[in-house]
Amino acid sequence: MLNSVDILRMTTHELREKFLHFFATKGHAIIPSASLIPEHDPTVLFTTAGMHPLVPYLLGESHPKGKRIADVQKCIRTTDIDEVGDQWHLTFFEMLGNWSLGDYFKKEAIEWSWEFLTDSRWLGIDPERLAVSIFEGDKNAPRDDEAEGYWLNAGVPKKRIFTYPKEKNWWGPAGETGPCGPDTEMFYDTKRPHDPSCGKECHPNCDCGRWAEIWNDVFMQFNKQADGAFVPLKQKNVDTGMGLERVVAVLAGKTTVFETDAFQSTIDAITGLLPRSLAQPSANPSIRIIADHIRAAVFIMGDDLGVLPSNVDQGYVVRRLIRRAVRHGHTLGIGREFTKVVASAVIGHFASSYPELERNADRVLKEIDTEEIKFRATLERGSKALERILAGKNAVNGNDAFELYTTYGFPFELTQEIAEEKGMSVDETGYKSAFAAHQELSRSGAQKKFKGGLADHTEKIVRMHTATHLLHQALRMVLGAEVYQKGSNITEERLRFDFSCPRRLTSEELARVEKIVNAKITEDMPVSWEEMAVEEAKQKGAIGIFTERYGEKVKVYRIGDPSIGSGQVFSQEICGGPHVDHTALVGHFSIAKEEAVSAGVRRIKAIVT
Ligand code: ALA
Repeated sequence: MLNSVDILRMTTHELREKFLHFFATKGHAIIPSASLIPEHDPTVLFTTAGMHPLVPYLLGESHPKGKRIADVQKCIRTTDIDEVGDQWHLTFFEMLGNWSLGDYFKKEAIEWSWEFLTDSRWLGIDPERLAVSIFEGDKNAPRDDEAEGYWLNAGVPKKRIFTYPKEKNWWGPAGETGPCGPDTEMFYDTKRPHDPSCGKECHPNCDCGRWAEIWNDVFMQFNKQADGAFVPLKQKNVDTGMGLERVVAVLAGKTTVFETDAFQSTIDAITGLLPRSLAQPSANPSIRIIADHIRAAVFIMGDDLGVLPSNVDQGYVVRRLIRRAVRHGHTLGIGREFTKVVASAVIGHFASSYPELERNADRVLKEIDTEEIKFRATLERGSKALERILAGKNAVNGNDAFELYTTYGFPFELTQEIAEEKGMSVDETGYKSAFAAHQELSRSGAQKKFKGGLADHTEKIVRMHTATHLLHQALRMVLGAEVYQKGSNITEERLRFDFSCPRRLTSEELARVEKIVNAKITEDMPVSWEEMAVEEAKQKGAIGIFTERYGEKVKVYRIGDPSIGSGQVFSQEICGGPHVDHTALVGHFSIAKEEAVSAGVRRIKAIVT
């Protein structure tokens, strides 16, 4: 058995290695972490658990590496963003997992979990300090007597096996539908004195903090369908999840993840920037928030499918993370730009485990710096306005919050956070109705102005509108300039583009089109427009549907600017708009379908994620 000093010394790196090594000895192939940005699932913004990228294999597709897999998956959970700053919540974390894809099931999963946790060659935790939980059963699935039997065989006394309902002992599906099943969780007794209010026998799921969950074995037996039914899966799988930072902290007797080696150099970098020293930096909520948020932003931007700060989807999450970190830097009195310094520390610590961070370091550091500079200016202007608004009041009304947003670029969450710090509330309903009224106004304005332009310009739709222009031009490049638009329709879910072409497109052609569009998105070309006479537009080579009459003015949208960057103009198209300001905001473009509409007309359906 390891003594407490050895356990204390275990770093996150050592736990990672130990875990993978253990499962390699049990015949598991070790696979690298998948991207943080889900590649095949537009329904979620981020990979939130190890199971996410493996869903096709949990549903029966065969995995190239076999049926036993172990990995350390990068995960982002943004639902906890407001809780960051406490002891355990992290936006980005690493999840250790072992997987059976239709191979072993409850018996081996439980035996191996127990061996890894308690055997002196591995973690060597004193069995007396462990307890487990199992699913208590309900109308969808029976009590997990089978799991209980294996725990008893392993030597866990009955009094330390606890049963809980679905809210606690069931996992998945990752979205609305998909693989899921009962789970069994393992808990470590921190031996911290528990709150007397939780009674004599405080139990593992009690909130007092004495017990810490360290591992979760999920037994995926069901597929949850859209109608809510739980249908048994053809193949039974095991999905386990162990939160790396949390387990290292708990076993070392620490009370927070911020005291592990995973955060040390990052927190050192932050404290090095402070105007005065702090007694216990890892206990300071602002330092924790900065460390967590910059780390998460670095991992999202530094992914090979990385996303930059923007106003939509994942980009908006990155923006919020950076902005929140900057604000907390402000609170701590850091008087200059600092996110780049903290981001460098994160990259330095993680580059050996995640080489993509090194590969993408230049982009990450440049973008984080740019975002900080922009936001500092916003913060400066908005804070003064906010102070004026707050003076002599005890609440912020919806119109004020909306004005802070439209005039000063102050996001609602920020107004809310600052107001709350001062003990004031913000009228969210009022803000939302001010926002809706404004949308309504600009929508009807746009309709009048652009004659049937986009009636509904949510951000997603605007992104797809720009994607349509990129697609149109890419098709002309791949198939020839004789290709012209026959129709276009955009909904929240997809864009649809009809064009002249006498034959089916080959898969190579479709792949080339997709590649060109994504390359132009990555190049982040500026999008601008100019009003001109129809004749001039034609003469300049603008494409699009020319319904206007001679002499009338039209709007021409241009992607690329002769005076900026490569100077290349990729597309010019007659269109009412609106469009994104620069192509990176479009996101990732994928063609979902190519089909015939009528003789000589083909249709492409595509999505942006
Ligand atoms: N998918 C399970 C979890 O995230 C293991 O806890």
